[in-house]
Amino acid sequence: MLDLLVSHATLVDGRTDMSVAVQAGHIVEVTPRLDAPAHQTLDAMGLLLSPPFVDAHFHMDATLSYGLPRVNASGTLLEGIALWGELKPLLTAQALIDRALAYCDWAVAKGLLAIRSHVDICDPRLLAVQALLDVKRRVAPYLDLQLVAFPQDGVLRSPGAFEQLKRALAMGVDVVGGIPHFERTMQQGAESVRLLCELAAAQGRMVDMHCDESDDPLSRHVETLAFETQRLGLHGRVTGSHLTSMHSMDNYYVSKLLPLMVQAQLNVVSNPLINITLQGRHDTYPKRRGMTRVPELLALGLNVAFGHDCVMDPWYSLGSADMLEVAQMGLHVAQMTGQAAMRQCFDAVTCAPARILGLDGYGIEPGCHADFVLLQARDPVEAIRLRATRLAVYRRGQRIAGTPANSATLSLPGRPAQTQFMIDRPG
Ligand code: FE2
Repeated sequence: MLDLLVSHATLVDGRTDMSVAVQAGHIVEVTPRLDAPAHQTLDAMGLLLSPPFVDAHFHMDATLSYGLPRVNASGTLLEGIALWGELKPLLTAQALIDRALAYCDWAVAKGLLAIRSHVDICDPRLLAVQALLDVKRRVAPYLDLQLVAFPQDGVLRSPGAFEQLKRALAMGVDVVGGIPHFERTMQQGAESVRLLCELAAAQGRMVDMHCDESDDPLSRHVETLAFETQRLGLHGRVTGSHLTSMHSMDNYYVSKLLPLMVQAQLNVVSNPLINITLQGRHDTYPKRRGMTRVPELLALGLNVAFGHDCVMDPWYSLGSADMLEVAQMGLHVAQMTGQAAMRQCFDAVTCAPARILGLDGYGIEPGCHADFVLLQARDPVEAIRLRATRLAVYRRGQRIAGTPANSATLSLPGRPAQTQFMIDRPG
Protein backbone atom coordinates (compact mmCIF):
# COMPACT_ATOMS: atom_id res chain seq x y z
CA MET A 1 0.00 0.00 0.00
CA LEU A 2 1.42 3.37 -1.05
CA ASP A 3 1.50 6.28 1.37
CA LEU A 4 0.34 8.74 -1.30
CA LEU A 5 -0.72 8.54 -4.92
CA VAL A 6 -0.94 11.69 -7.02
CA SER A 7 -2.91 11.19 -10.22
CA HIS A 8 -3.68 13.16 -13.40
CA ALA A 9 -0.70 15.46 -12.97
CA THR A 10 0.95 17.49 -15.67
CA LEU A 11 4.72 17.71 -15.18
CA VAL A 12 7.03 20.59 -15.99
CA ASP A 13 8.47 18.72 -19.00
CA GLY A 14 4.98 18.55 -20.54
CA ARG A 15 4.04 14.95 -19.76
CA THR A 16 0.34 14.76 -18.91
CA ASP A 17 -1.94 12.38 -17.00
CA MET A 18 0.99 11.27 -14.86
CA SER A 19 0.84 9.46 -11.55
CA VAL A 20 3.38 9.96 -8.79
CA ALA A 21 3.65 7.22 -6.19
CA VAL A 22 5.08 8.01 -2.76
CA GLN A 23 6.38 5.67 -0.09
CA ALA A 24 8.23 6.60 3.11
CA GLY A 25 8.80 10.20 2.03
CA HIS A 26 10.26 9.32 -1.35
CA ILE A 27 8.92 9.15 -4.87
CA VAL A 28 8.96 5.50 -5.91
CA GLU A 29 7.32 5.70 -9.32
CA VAL A 30 6.39 8.30 -11.94
CA THR A 31 4.29 6.78 -14.67
CA PRO A 32 1.13 7.41 -16.70
CA ARG A 33 -2.18 6.41 -15.11
CA LEU A 34 -0.98 4.19 -12.26
CA ASP A 35 -3.72 2.37 -10.41
CA ALA A 36 -2.52 1.28 -6.98
CA PRO A 37 -3.95 1.34 -3.45
CA ALA A 38 -2.77 4.24 -1.31
CA HIS A 39 -3.49 5.65 2.15
CA GLN A 40 -3.88 9.11 0.65
CA THR A 41 -4.65 10.32 -2.84
CA LEU A 42 -4.42 13.66 -4.61
CA ASP A 43 -6.20 14.23 -7.90
CA ALA A 44 -4.17 16.90 -9.72
CA MET A 45 -7.00 17.35 -12.26
CA GLY A 46 -4.55 17.96 -15.11
CA LEU A 47 -2.77 20.76 -13.29
CA LEU A 48 0.97 21.31 -12.93
CA LEU A 49 2.86 19.33 -10.31
CA SER A 50 6.21 21.05 -9.88
CA PRO A 51 9.21 20.44 -7.68
CA PRO A 52 9.25 23.08 -4.91
CA PHE A 53 10.49 26.58 -5.58
CA VAL A 54 14.04 27.34 -4.47
CA ASP A 55 15.49 30.76 -3.68
CA ALA A 56 19.28 30.85 -4.10
CA HIS A 57 19.70 34.41 -2.80
CA PHE A 58 18.02 35.88 0.24
CA HIS A 59 18.72 37.94 3.38
CA MET A 60 16.76 36.38 6.20
CA ASP A 61 18.43 38.44 8.93
CA ALA A 62 16.82 41.60 7.54
CA THR A 63 13.51 40.27 6.27
CA LEU A 64 10.17 41.60 7.52
CA SER A 65 11.89 44.46 9.34
CA TYR A 66 10.02 47.00 7.20
CA GLY A 67 9.52 50.22 9.19
CA LEU A 68 12.26 49.45 11.74
CA PRO A 69 13.45 51.85 12.96
CA ARG A 70 11.91 53.81 10.07
CA VAL A 71 10.98 53.18 6.43
CA ASN A 72 13.34 53.74 3.51
CA ALA A 73 11.81 57.02 2.33
CA SER A 74 13.73 57.30 -0.96
CA GLY A 75 13.73 53.57 -1.78
CA THR A 76 17.41 53.75 -2.77
CA LEU A 77 20.29 51.35 -2.11
CA LEU A 78 22.27 53.97 -0.20
CA GLU A 79 19.42 54.80 2.16
CA GLY A 80 18.85 51.06 2.56
CA ILE A 81 22.46 50.50 3.64
CA ALA A 82 22.25 53.44 6.04
CA LEU A 83 18.98 52.10 7.43
CA TRP A 84 20.47 48.62 7.97
CA GLY A 85 23.31 50.32 9.87
CA GLU A 86 20.72 52.01 12.12
CA LEU A 87 18.79 48.79 12.63
CA LYS A 88 21.72 46.46 13.38
CA PRO A 89 22.48 47.73 16.92
CA LEU A 90 18.79 47.43 17.79
CA LEU A 91 18.43 43.80 16.70
CA THR A 92 17.67 41.12 19.26
CA ALA A 93 18.05 37.41 18.70
CA GLN A 94 14.39 36.75 19.51
CA ALA A 95 13.11 39.40 17.11
CA LEU A 96 15.36 38.00 14.36
CA ILE A 97 14.11 34.49 14.99
CA ASP A 98 10.47 35.57 15.07
CA ARG A 99 10.74 37.43 11.77
CA ALA A 100 12.70 34.65 10.05
CA LEU A 101 10.19 32.02 11.19
CA ALA A 102 7.32 34.20 9.96
CA TYR A 103 9.05 34.50 6.58
CA CYS A 104 9.51 30.73 6.44
CA ASP A 105 5.74 30.40 7.03
CA TRP A 106 5.16 32.60 3.98
CA ALA A 107 7.72 30.62 2.00
CA VAL A 108 6.09 27.27 2.76
CA ALA A 109 2.66 28.64 1.86
CA LYS A 110 4.13 29.69 -1.50
CA GLY A 111 5.76 26.30 -2.09
CA LEU A 112 9.26 27.70 -1.50
CA LEU A 113 10.99 24.91 0.41
CA ALA A 114 14.70 25.71 0.07
CA ILE A 115 16.42 29.04 0.65
CA ARG A 116 20.06 30.13 0.59
CA SER A 117 20.29 33.12 2.91
CA HIS A 118 23.23 35.39 3.43
CA VAL A 119 23.80 36.34 7.06
CA ASP A 120 25.77 39.45 8.00
CA ILE A 121 28.87 38.54 10.04
CA CYS A 122 30.09 42.15 10.52
CA ASP A 123 28.96 42.15 14.13
CA PRO A 124 31.39 40.85 16.75
CA ARG A 125 28.48 39.32 18.67
CA LEU A 126 27.43 37.28 15.61
CA LEU A 127 23.89 37.70 16.89
CA ALA A 128 22.27 37.14 13.50
CA VAL A 129 24.43 34.07 12.88
CA GLN A 130 23.31 32.45 16.12
CA ALA A 131 19.69 33.37 15.46
CA LEU A 132 19.64 32.01 11.91
CA LEU A 133 21.43 28.81 12.92
CA ASP A 134 18.63 28.34 15.43
CA VAL A 135 16.04 29.03 12.71
CA LYS A 136 17.78 26.57 10.38
CA ARG A 137 17.42 23.81 12.98
CA ARG A 138 13.81 24.69 13.70
CA VAL A 139 12.63 24.79 10.09
CA ALA A 140 14.66 21.75 8.95
CA PRO A 141 11.64 19.41 8.97
CA TYR A 142 9.90 21.54 6.35
CA LEU A 143 12.42 23.89 4.72
CA ASP A 144 16.10 23.59 3.75
CA LEU A 145 17.88 26.74 4.91
CA GLN A 146 21.47 27.14 3.73
CA LEU A 147 23.48 29.99 5.22
CA VAL A 148 26.23 32.12 3.67
CA ALA A 149 28.73 33.99 5.88
CA PHE A 150 28.30 37.45 4.39
CA PRO A 151 30.64 40.34 5.30
CA GLN A 152 28.15 43.11 4.45
CA ASP A 153 30.66 45.89 5.24
CA GLY A 154 33.56 44.25 3.38
CA VAL A 155 35.80 41.47 4.68
CA LEU A 156 38.89 43.70 4.43
CA ARG A 157 37.19 47.03 5.07
CA SER A 158 35.40 45.98 8.26
CA PRO A 159 37.83 45.41 11.17
CA GLY A 160 37.74 41.82 12.43
CA ALA A 161 35.41 40.63 9.69
CA PHE A 162 37.64 37.82 8.38
CA GLU A 163 38.00 36.28 11.85
CA GLN A 164 34.26 36.66 12.46
CA LEU A 165 33.55 35.03 9.11
CA LYS A 166 35.71 32.04 10.06
CA ARG A 167 33.97 31.85 13.45
CA ALA A 168 30.59 31.84 11.71
CA LEU A 169 31.69 28.93 9.52
CA ALA A 170 32.94 27.05 12.57
CA MET A 171 29.55 27.61 14.24
CA GLY A 172 27.73 25.91 11.36
CA VAL A 173 27.29 28.42 8.56
CA ASP A 174 27.67 26.58 5.26
CA VAL A 175 28.98 28.85 2.50
CA VAL A 176 31.70 31.52 2.16
CA GLY A 177 30.34 34.92 1.11
CA GLY A 178 31.91 38.21 0.04
CA ILE A 179 31.25 41.66 -1.38
CA PRO A 180 34.36 42.71 -3.37
CA HIS A 181 32.79 45.80 -4.97
CA PHE A 182 32.25 47.25 -1.49
CA GLU A 183 35.93 47.04 -0.52
CA ARG A 184 37.82 50.34 -0.70
CA THR A 185 39.60 49.81 -4.02
CA MET A 186 39.36 47.49 -7.01
CA GLN A 187 42.63 45.95 -5.84
CA GLN A 188 41.29 45.33 -2.34
CA GLY A 189 38.18 43.82 -3.89
CA ALA A 190 40.33 41.41 -5.90
CA GLU A 191 42.33 40.61 -2.77
CA SER A 192 39.11 39.80 -0.89
CA VAL A 193 38.03 37.40 -3.64
CA ARG A 194 41.39 35.59 -3.49
CA LEU A 195 41.35 35.41 0.32
CA LEU A 196 37.80 34.10 0.52
CA CYS A 197 38.16 31.58 -2.30
CA GLU A 198 41.34 30.22 -0.69
CA LEU A 199 39.47 29.85 2.59
CA ALA A 200 36.67 27.98 0.82
CA ALA A 201 39.14 25.71 -0.97
CA ALA A 202 40.97 24.95 2.28
CA GLN A 203 37.70 24.08 4.05
CA GLY A 204 35.99 22.34 1.10
CA ARG A 205 33.15 24.84 1.01
CA MET A 206 31.03 26.50 -1.63
CA VAL A 207 31.37 30.23 -2.37
CA ASP A 208 28.62 32.76 -3.07
CA MET A 209 29.65 36.38 -3.45
CA HIS A 210 27.71 39.54 -4.00
CA CYS A 211 29.78 40.54 -7.00
CA ASP A 212 29.86 43.72 -9.07
CA GLU A 213 26.49 44.89 -7.74
CA SER A 214 26.86 48.31 -9.35
CA ASP A 215 26.42 50.07 -12.67
CA ASP A 216 30.19 50.51 -13.02
CA PRO A 217 31.14 49.21 -16.49
CA LEU A 218 34.73 48.81 -15.30
CA SER A 219 34.02 46.66 -12.25
CA ARG A 220 36.05 43.48 -12.76
CA HIS A 221 35.39 41.24 -9.77
CA VAL A 222 33.49 38.57 -11.65
CA GLU A 223 36.60 38.12 -13.76
CA THR A 224 38.66 37.63 -10.59
CA LEU A 225 36.03 35.29 -9.17
CA ALA A 226 36.13 33.15 -12.32
CA PHE A 227 39.94 33.15 -12.27
CA GLU A 228 40.21 32.13 -8.61
CA THR A 229 37.53 29.47 -9.07
CA GLN A 230 39.60 27.93 -11.83
CA ARG A 231 42.95 28.36 -10.09
CA LEU A 232 41.71 26.65 -6.93
CA GLY A 233 39.74 23.89 -8.65
CA LEU A 234 36.41 25.11 -7.29
CA HIS A 235 34.62 24.53 -10.61
CA GLY A 236 30.85 24.47 -10.28
CA ARG A 237 30.99 25.29 -6.54
CA VAL A 238 31.13 29.07 -6.86
CA THR A 239 28.26 31.48 -7.41
CA GLY A 240 28.40 35.09 -8.53
CA SER A 241 25.35 36.94 -7.24
CA HIS A 242 23.91 40.06 -8.88
CA LEU A 243 26.67 40.73 -11.50
CA THR A 244 24.74 43.86 -12.44
CA SER A 245 27.82 45.66 -13.78
CA MET A 246 27.82 43.14 -16.66
CA HIS A 247 24.77 45.02 -17.95
CA SER A 248 26.91 48.13 -18.46
CA MET A 249 30.21 46.53 -19.51
CA ASP A 250 31.80 47.02 -22.89
CA ASN A 251 30.59 44.30 -25.27
CA TYR A 252 34.08 43.34 -26.40
CA TYR A 253 35.17 42.85 -22.80
CA VAL A 254 32.08 40.71 -22.09
CA SER A 255 32.93 38.54 -25.09
CA LYS A 256 36.22 37.75 -23.35
CA LEU A 257 34.68 37.41 -19.88
CA LEU A 258 31.91 34.93 -20.75
CA PRO A 259 34.26 32.08 -21.78
CA LEU A 260 36.18 32.55 -18.51
CA MET A 261 32.92 32.12 -16.60
CA VAL A 262 32.12 29.02 -18.64
CA GLN A 263 35.56 27.53 -17.94
CA ALA A 264 35.03 28.08 -14.21
CA GLN A 265 31.48 26.66 -14.42
CA LEU A 266 30.40 29.69 -12.44
CA ASN A 267 26.83 29.73 -11.19
CA VAL A 268 24.98 33.02 -11.52
CA VAL A 269 22.15 34.47 -9.45
CA SER A 270 20.31 37.47 -10.80
CA ASN A 271 17.85 39.23 -8.49
CA PRO A 272 15.45 40.93 -10.88
CA LEU A 273 13.13 42.66 -8.40
CA ILE A 274 16.03 44.28 -6.58
CA ASN A 275 18.30 44.90 -9.57
CA ILE A 276 15.60 46.69 -11.55
CA THR A 277 14.72 48.94 -8.63
CA LEU A 278 18.16 49.68 -7.14
CA GLN A 279 20.39 49.93 -10.21
CA GLY A 280 20.46 52.76 -12.73
CA ARG A 281 19.75 55.30 -9.99
CA HIS A 282 22.53 57.62 -11.13
CA ASP A 283 21.19 57.65 -14.68
CA THR A 284 18.88 60.31 -16.04
CA TYR A 285 17.56 58.96 -19.36
CA PRO A 286 17.97 56.47 -20.85
CA LYS A 287 18.06 54.50 -17.60
CA ARG A 288 19.96 51.23 -17.57
CA ARG A 289 18.09 48.14 -16.45
CA GLY A 290 20.87 46.99 -14.16
CA MET A 291 20.25 43.28 -14.61
CA THR A 292 22.98 40.92 -15.72
CA ARG A 293 22.96 39.35 -19.20
CA VAL A 294 20.75 36.40 -18.40
CA PRO A 295 19.86 35.12 -21.92
CA GLU A 296 23.50 35.33 -23.04
CA LEU A 297 24.69 33.44 -19.95
CA LEU A 298 22.04 30.77 -20.44
CA ALA A 299 22.93 30.42 -24.13
CA LEU A 300 26.45 29.43 -23.09
CA GLY A 301 25.12 26.74 -20.77
CA LEU A 302 25.79 28.56 -17.50
CA ASN A 303 23.51 27.77 -14.59
CA VAL A 304 21.46 30.93 -13.91
CA ALA A 305 18.91 31.34 -11.11
CA PHE A 306 16.62 34.19 -10.16
CA GLY A 307 16.69 35.12 -6.46
CA HIS A 308 14.27 37.14 -4.32
CA ASP A 309 17.06 38.83 -2.32
CA CYS A 310 14.82 40.98 -0.12
CA VAL A 311 11.28 41.05 1.26
CA MET A 312 10.04 43.98 3.35
CA ASP A 313 13.45 45.07 4.58
CA PRO A 314 15.61 48.24 4.43
CA TRP A 315 16.23 47.73 0.70
CA TYR A 316 12.85 46.60 -0.57
CA SER A 317 9.42 47.33 0.84
CA LEU A 318 7.52 44.73 -1.18
CA GLY A 319 7.51 40.97 -1.78
CA SER A 320 5.75 37.92 -0.35
CA ALA A 321 8.08 34.90 -0.83
CA ASP A 322 6.49 34.34 -4.22
CA MET A 323 9.18 33.00 -6.58
CA LEU A 324 6.73 33.23 -9.47
CA GLU A 325 6.69 37.01 -8.96
CA VAL A 326 10.49 36.89 -9.15
CA ALA A 327 10.37 34.78 -12.33
CA GLN A 328 7.82 37.12 -13.86
CA MET A 329 9.97 40.17 -13.24
CA GLY A 330 13.08 38.38 -14.57
CA LEU A 331 11.18 37.37 -17.69
CA HIS A 332 10.11 40.95 -18.36
CA VAL A 333 13.38 42.70 -17.60
CA ALA A 334 15.42 40.21 -19.67
CA GLN A 335 12.80 40.24 -22.44
CA MET A 336 12.68 36.45 -22.23
CA THR A 337 9.29 36.17 -23.93
CA GLY A 338 10.09 33.32 -26.33
CA GLN A 339 8.41 30.02 -25.47
CA ALA A 340 11.65 28.29 -24.48
CA ALA A 341 12.89 31.40 -22.66
CA MET A 342 9.72 31.62 -20.54
CA ARG A 343 10.27 28.01 -19.48
CA GLN A 344 13.86 28.88 -18.61
CA CYS A 345 12.46 31.55 -16.27
CA PHE A 346 10.50 28.85 -14.46
CA ASP A 347 13.65 26.71 -14.32
CA ALA A 348 15.46 29.73 -12.81
CA VAL A 349 13.29 29.52 -9.66
CA THR A 350 13.26 25.70 -9.41
CA CYS A 351 15.96 23.43 -10.87
CA ALA A 352 18.72 26.02 -11.43
CA PRO A 353 18.79 27.25 -7.81
CA ALA A 354 18.46 23.64 -6.58
CA ARG A 355 21.74 22.91 -8.39
CA ILE A 356 23.33 25.97 -6.77
CA LEU A 357 22.36 24.84 -3.29
CA GLY A 358 23.45 21.30 -4.13
CA LEU A 359 20.10 19.89 -2.99
CA ASP A 360 19.97 16.10 -2.88
CA GLY A 361 16.91 14.28 -4.12
CA TYR A 362 15.36 17.29 -5.82
CA GLY A 363 12.89 16.70 -8.65
CA ILE A 364 9.92 14.59 -9.61
CA GLU A 365 11.70 11.35 -10.40
CA PRO A 366 11.84 7.95 -8.71
CA GLY A 367 14.25 8.15 -5.78
CA CYS A 368 13.71 11.88 -5.15
CA HIS A 369 12.20 13.29 -1.98
CA ALA A 370 8.42 13.50 -2.18
CA ASP A 371 8.50 17.31 -2.17
CA PHE A 372 6.24 19.06 -4.66
CA VAL A 373 3.73 21.82 -5.28
CA LEU A 374 0.43 21.55 -7.09
CA LEU A 375 -0.12 24.78 -8.98
CA GLN A 376 -3.38 26.15 -10.34
CA ALA A 377 -1.92 26.29 -13.84
CA ARG A 378 -1.47 23.84 -16.69
CA ASP A 379 2.14 24.59 -17.60
CA PRO A 380 5.11 26.68 -16.40
CA VAL A 381 4.27 29.67 -18.61
CA GLU A 382 0.72 29.81 -17.26
CA ALA A 383 2.13 29.46 -13.75
CA ILE A 384 4.28 32.56 -14.26
CA ARG A 385 1.49 34.49 -15.98
CA LEU A 386 -0.97 33.88 -13.15
CA ARG A 387 1.58 33.71 -10.32
CA ALA A 388 -0.43 30.57 -9.83
CA THR A 389 -2.13 29.64 -6.59
CA ARG A 390 -0.30 26.95 -4.63
CA LEU A 391 -3.20 24.53 -4.21
CA ALA A 392 -1.15 22.02 -2.20
CA VAL A 393 2.42 21.87 -0.93
CA TYR A 394 4.00 18.54 0.04
CA ARG A 395 7.20 17.83 1.94
CA ARG A 396 8.42 14.24 2.30
CA GLY A 397 4.99 13.07 1.22
CA GLN A 398 3.10 15.08 3.84
CA ARG A 399 0.78 17.96 2.95
CA ILE A 400 2.16 21.02 4.78
CA ALA A 401 0.28 23.90 3.13
CA GLY A 402 -2.54 24.68 0.76
CA THR A 403 -4.47 27.62 -0.68
CA PRO A 404 -8.03 27.56 -2.05
CA ALA A 405 -8.29 27.85 -5.82
CA ASN A 406 -8.41 31.33 -7.27
CA SER A 407 -11.84 31.84 -8.76
CA ALA A 408 -13.62 35.15 -9.12
CA THR A 409 -17.39 35.21 -9.05
CA LEU A 410 -19.27 37.25 -11.65
CA SER A 411 -22.78 38.62 -11.69
CA LEU A 412 -23.14 39.66 -15.31
CA PRO A 413 -26.12 39.14 -17.62
CA GLY A 414 -25.52 36.26 -20.02
CA ARG A 415 -21.97 35.64 -18.76
CA PRO A 416 -20.48 32.73 -16.73
CA ALA A 417 -20.83 32.81 -12.96
CA GLN A 418 -17.08 32.67 -12.43
CA THR A 419 -13.68 32.99 -14.09
CA GLN A 420 -10.26 31.50 -13.30
CA PHE A 421 -8.37 33.61 -15.85
CA MET A 422 -7.65 30.68 -18.18
CA ILE A 423 -8.65 30.17 -21.80
CA ASP A 424 -9.88 26.88 -23.21
CA ARG A 425 -7.24 25.07 -25.18
CA PRO A 426 -7.77 23.36 -28.50
CA GLY A 427 -8.04 19.58 -28.35
FE1 FE2 B 1 21.89 40.21 -1.65
